Order: sequence, then C-alpha cells, then structure tokens
Amino acid sequence: MAHLFTPKKVGAYTLSHRVVLAPMTRLRTIQPGDIPSPMMADFYGQRASEGGLEIIEGVSISIVARSYLGAASFYHDGQVEGWKAIANAVHAKGGRVFMQLIHGGRQSHVEMTGGVDPVAPSVVPFEGVALTKDGFVPASPHRALDIEEIPGIIEEFRVAAQRALDAGFDGVELHGANGYLVDQFIQDGTNKRADAYGGPIENRVRFLREAVEALISVWGADRVGVRISPSGEWGGISDSNPEATFSYVAKVLNDYKIAYLHVIEPRIKGDETLHEGHAPVAVKYLRPHFTGPIIAAGGFDGASAEAIVASGDADLVAFGRHFTSNPDLPYRVKHKLPLTPYVRAGFWGGDEKHYTDFPTYEAAATA
Ligand SMILES: Cc1cc2nc3c(=O)[nH]c(=O)nc-3n(C[C@H](O)[C@H](O)[C@H](O)COP(=O)(O)O)c2cc1C
Repeated sequence: MAHLFTPKKVGAYTLSHRVVLAPMTRLRTIQPGDIPSPMMADFYGQRASEGGLEIIEGVSISIVARSYLGAASFYHDGQVEGWKAIANAVHAKGGRVFMQLIHGGRQSHVEMTGGVDPVAPSVVPFEGVALTKDGFVPASPHRALDIEEIPGIIEEFRVAAQRALDAGFDGVELHGANGYLVDQFIQDGTNKRADAYGGPIENRVRFLREAVEALISVWGADRVGVRISPSGEWGGISDSNPEATFSYVAKVLNDYKIAYLHVIEPRIKGDETLHEGHAPVAVKYLRPHFTGPIIAAGGFDGASAEAIVASGDADLVAFGRHFTSNPDLPYRVKHKLPLTPYVRAGFWGGDEKHYTDFPTYEAAATA
C-alpha cells in the first residue's frame, strides 16, 4: 500500500516522498518591479527537502494579470535573477520546484493592472477584493475579453513558462483554481459568453486547453501540472454542476498526460476558510477520470494525509498553512512530531518575522 513516504513518480521526476508545499502568495516581492526578494529564496530553501516537491506561490504572467501588491510575478527581465536564486535554493537541498502561473482576471484593481480595466470572460457582478498600496480594496469593474484578445493572453502564459524554464525551475503549474481567470472561464457562474469560449463545457474548457497547450509547448506534458478547486467559492466563483464540470476537466487533462492534477478539497472554500467535518470528496469523483498522479490539498494534517494516500484517492498531499510555520514539515510528519502553530498575522506581507524565522524541530529542541 502506498503511503506518504514511499517514492512516487510525478511526470518526469521521481519524488522520494509525497508531502508537497502548496502554493502560497506571501506578498514579499520588492517594490517597484515585483522583484523576488532574497527572503523568498530563504523561505523556499528552508522548506526544500531531498526528493520533495514545492509549488511556488501564484506568479502573475503580466501586469494586467496581477491582483495583489507585493505578489509574485514574472513578466520582465529584471526579475530573472531573483527567480534563479529561488530555484537554486531548492535544488541545493535536492528538492524539485514548480512555478504556479496565474492570471487574476476580474480579481484585480486598476492600480494593479497598470490602469486598465481588469478582464474576465464576461461581466458578472463581483464583490471581491484586490490589494493595492491602500490595502484590501474592492475590485475595479471588469470588462469582457474580446475573442481576438485571447491568443495574446495564451501567449503570455507561454512566455512566462519559458521564463520559468530559463530561470532553472523544474516545471510549471497552471492556476486553474480559486476563481482566477482560468477558473472564470471554466465555471458557468462567471462565463456567460456566447462564442467558442462559452456555453457548453466543451467551450468553457477551451481557454484552459489553450493555456495548457502553451505550457506543454515549452515544457512537455510531463513537467506541467494543473490546479483546480471544484468546490471553491473564493472570488465569487460558482458552477451549476461542479461535479460534471470538473469530471470533464479531469478527462480533458488526462488526455494531455500532464504530470499531475492538483485538487483543492471542499474543506477549504476559499484561500483559508476551514469547513470542519467535510471529508475530501472531489478527488473521489475525479479519480476515475484522471489516471495520473493526483495531489490533494486543503485542511490536511499528517494523519489525514496518510489516510487519503493509503485509500488511493490521492497520490500526494499539499500542505499550506502548516508548512508556513514548520519548515521541516516532511520530517515532522514522518516522525509524528508536534507542529508549530501557524501565525496568520504573517501570511500576507511583512518581513522575515513569521516568514523565515520558524525553527526546525531539531533546532528548537537543541536551542
Ligand atoms: C497565505 C496563503 C496564500 C495562498 N496563496 C495561494 C496561491 O498563490 N495559489 C493557490 O493556488 N493557492 C493559494 N492558497 C491556498 C493554499 O495553496 C491551500 O490550498 C490552502 O491553504 C489549503 O491548504 P491548508 O489547509 O494546508 O492550508 C493560499 C493560502 C494561504 C493561507
């Protein structure tokens, strides 16, 4: 029977364990220019482990794609050295690192998009937020993309994927979750288009397909992953039949033979609201449609992670919040050691405090 510490082949790589770092936006780039900071390299280096996989926080593919001041992005050459330092820090410890690529779509504000209206598949009333120098503010009104504009965004995904390759990463993950642009196209609550990108599910996944194909053109399918959140509500997202929609998405992605499918479970509705008592369900209905590795995420601890891998519903488990405060999380899970509680105050923005100052178990024990 598989468990968290048996090796697993994920696309082009054989991982030595299945405790994955979930992508987490921590708002610690250097302004102006969104330059990845040295403390980001420290953060990812600290959490790297021999044969382990880390997925870097959502990296915006363009200025218009940005949602949050201080969030990661990769759209100009001045950012290359910072990203190389991050990849090097993970590789120095024998880890693998994928970069999550994101377009925020309507979850943005004119101050973040460079002065233009945020874009979306359709105009649908939205009460979400963006983060500017004035803090969290209501998102600006968005506009629907013209069909002629779509190839340009797909090309931005391809260019960002190429940048990740040039910076020494091991692969890329398409952010198709949490109500950002790709998800806005997939789900019918936000996609009201009447053209080839809207209507039936075959059309609503067209944007996803084209983005995936762009990433594959750079990396090959075995170095590309996709993240989805079939039950998420973050970003005002909704679908009239999530199970049918995402089963179809899983089938489509299965045909591409991508490295993995990364699924956020319904216990996490948005980026952090825990709905206690909800067992993982999405991986169960997706499993028959996706034969490659599935990473489950959302509200796991060591015991529940072991259980889902043993059940076969998922092959790996991504941890978010616990990884923020436990740089040696795989070690602690393996040896059933107590976890340091996470500190929400340090999640979004700030300096090293509550970011890179959490000791390993051994360091704390010998201090
Ligand atoms: C501070 C913070 C930032 C996050 N940023 C991202 C992100 O950039 N991309 C993403 O797909 N999910 C993001 N998430 C969601 C996490 O990847 C993860 O799915 C969620 O925290 C549930 O897992 P957990 O219960 O192990 O924390 C974020 C969550 C937190 C707490």
